[in-house]
Amino acid sequence: MTLRITFPKADTTPKGHIVVTVFEGDTLSTAAKKIDKALDGLVASAMKKDKSFKGKLGQVLTLYAPEKSKIDRVTILGLGKTDDFDSLKAEEAGGKLFAAIGKAGSKDIMLVTEKSKALKNELAAAHLANGFSLRAYNFDRYKSKKDSKDDAPKLAALKVLSSHPANSKAAFDALDSVTSGTFWARDLVNTAPNDLYPDSYAKQIRDELKPLDVSVEILDEKKLEKMGAGAILAVGKGSERQPRMVIMRWNGAGKKKGAKTIGLVGKGVTFDTGGISLKPGAGMDEMKMDMGGSAAVVGTVKALAKSNAKVNVVAIIGLAENMPSSNAYRPGDIVTSLSGKTIEVLNTDAEGRLVLADCLTHIQSKYKPDIIIDLATLTGAMMVALAHEYCGTFVNNDELWKQLEKSSAGTGEKLWRMPLDDVWKKEMESTVADVQNLAKSGRWGGACTAAGFLEHFIEDGVEWAHMDIAGTAWRKSDKPTVPKFGTGFGVRVLHDWITQNYQ
Ligand code: BES
Ligand code: MN
Ligand code: ZN
Repeated sequence: MTLRITFPKADTTPKGHIVVTVFEGDTLSTAAKKIDKALDGLVASAMKKDKSFKGKLGQVLTLYAPEKSKIDRVTILGLGKTDDFDSLKAEEAGGKLFAAIGKAGSKDIMLVTEKSKALKNELAAAHLANGFSLRAYNFDRYKSKKDSKDDAPKLAALKVLSSHPANSKAAFDALDSVTSGTFWARDLVNTAPNDLYPDSYAKQIRDELKPLDVSVEILDEKKLEKMGAGAILAVGKGSERQPRMVIMRWNGAGKKKGAKTIGLVGKGVTFDTGGISLKPGAGMDEMKMDMGGSAAVVGTVKALAKSNAKVNVVAIIGLAENMPSSNAYRPGDIVTSLSGKTIEVLNTDAEGRLVLADCLTHIQSKYKPDIIIDLATLTGAMMVALAHEYCGTFVNNDELWKQLEKSSAGTGEKLWRMPLDDVWKKEMESTVADVQNLAKSGRWGGACTAAGFLEHFIEDGVEWAHMDIAGTAWRKSDKPTVPKFGTGFGVRVLHDWITQNYQ
């Protein structure tokens, strides 16, 4: 069931499940006082009696109203310290609100917002709602029983009262475009790999993005062969389901003078068994998320199109399934990439870099973007270093890093700068071919040497960032019933970076 979020005009007769907000150490706002009065002081007295409730960010306290009242329940939501309340904190509070009451059985909830010093109320309302919505994401495609009759009624609507409903709605709609991209990226990562494979994935992208005026071109294995994209083809050789390259163009800035072309590239390995260099069995199911980089890229393109961003973006993702078979590529193979550079394959599990190499070459030679960012679940080493928390980001330009750092702080998608170094580029030179896909010195600094490999496919003078999202693309949930799930990481930070700097 989808959640409907609206911003109605201030309702004088609150009813149902009401949420009021309070800053740490503060008393109730004027709006909340009205509700308190209607309940003969129940809210204020609960706050006084519950000594553990301090109004800390995301803290909640829920009370039941007397039977005769039109109000069923009141939830008090803490917003933390009023001085440093900002849009990110509002989203965090909104998320925690959903976690606390989203499944408590109320069909609709009315959130009454209040004035704050640091953030305009109309914006706070939009961000609270967006945080709530992001947390309400649910993936039940494979559950045969969706709305079980035994369960309590499901939440269908959130009404948010703000000082300026029209402005709140406009702000929310803009955020919601980005959320729709994030949700799509999550869905793609969560889809089982028997359903999501190169051809089905490519078609889904076409069906989803074409109606949004994004041009979508799909290159199948025959076209890839004709072009000479030997690296991505090698990775996909072992699978019945042959590789695809998908090229998306969003021309929101049109022919505007000075408009830059942003290039995005994503790794879309729809399942990574490791190939002949087979991975161990335990936890291998997690490798369905090995297309997380491509999901972030297509999610960003959707977000840009839905928010009608006045920017020009070309995005290329490489889709392949890495399987062992009698037809699979092997350790020892030497393949010729689209760039003409030969690659000695030393481990078929280091496949992502091969897929990216051909995508990076194609985007540079055909579209000549001013800046390129690639995203990939590239190395286990990245996860060892930064876990699920930070995305290691390798950038060859300080100005670009500054922009990314700012967007990271603004969206809460955490980036951490990692080093590029010629030492690592050298590590990837082969004795028999131009490059090899494993570092000479072995596993140390695996995320850095992988970036060093990619750097061999970046032309001189091109501004470039590589984001290794191996850890951030997915998480294990703290709830045992939801073991693993896609986060949609990358959509928010990329959308912010593109619209803040190139619009
Ligand atoms: N898809 C994996 C990286 C990965 C591992 C992502 C764990 C998320 C969680 C990638 O294709 C891979 O297998 N990389 C190897 C590279 C090695 C063979 C140089 C790795 O990290 O072990
Ligand atoms: Mn691999
Ligand atoms: Zn992989």
